[in-house]
Amino acid sequence: MRRYVIGGNWKMQVVTVDESVKIAQEIARGISSISTVEVFISPSFNSLYPVSQSIKETRLHLAGQNMYNHDKGAFTGQISALSLLDANCRYVLLGHSEPRRIFGEQDKLIRSKLLKALDHNISPVLCIGETARERELDQTTEILHQQLSGSIKGLTPSQIRQIVIAYEPVWAINNKFLNPDTEIRPATPVEAKEAHGITRDWLRNEFGAPTAEDIPIIYGGSMNAKNAKELLSIDDIDGGLIGGASLSVDKFLPIIQFAARLSGEESTDYQWDSNTLRFKE
Ligand code: PGA
Repeated sequence: MRRYVIGGNWKMQVVTVDESVKIAQEIARGISSISTVEVFISPSFNSLYPVSQSIKETRLHLAGQNMYNHDKGAFTGQISALSLLDANCRYVLLGHSEPRRIFGEQDKLIRSKLLKALDHNISPVLCIGETARERELDQTTEILHQQLSGSIKGLTPSQIRQIVIAYEPVWAINNKFLNPDTEIRPATPVEAKEAHGITRDWLRNEFGAPTAEDIPIIYGGSMNAKNAKELLSIDDIDGGLIGGASLSVDKFLPIIQFAARLSGEESTDYQWDSNTLRFKE
């Protein structure tokens, strides 16, 4: 059975421990009655441990924003899976378009990090996605296949079952450095459905249908309270990786509540107010 996974990708947006703890606690409070959706946030590395202490015994989980493929050593500027574990991280983001396209990370490195994360029982959230130019050239399938093969081909069934895949078309990520010349917009439901279908089919071919059905494929790129319902209602979309809209409880919670409702949770019986983009309790 797949579960909804909703992750907050905080990037380098919340830069102090105090602010990170405050937002994390608000989110943790907001999701206290939600049991069917797995929710994580990814504060900056310096804030992970204090945030973990402040959300103990809540349903909110933590993710590292990246990690290195060695446990320890002379690797200036890198972070170890052991440090992520020390800060109670359950997930780690790998292969995000920002490290891929701004800092030049390639599939081979991403794969080695992913294997290291799995060694330590940290669930990798493997991000994949094509640029606007690649889409224009009709290379979306090829790019997705390439990124999937490059990082998860040949994994064992028990390894692959620990992974979450995030389809994040680069052109939809609200980031001017990634998209200097193109209009940034969320994928339409049709575009997202197609790409998630391509990803699911690849997983079926590689790992067989029963395993492929169990792997959450979440969508990322300008997801917000306005478009979440439509995107999350699509069969092969099992959640979201949310950047800008995960930085405040007001924007993040409605998305999580949609997912909870779609998985049949009664306890989130709120009225959606489309003017304020909030649930009225
Ligand atoms: P965005 O970021 O929601 O701000 O577009 C998503 C991501 O980069 O994971």
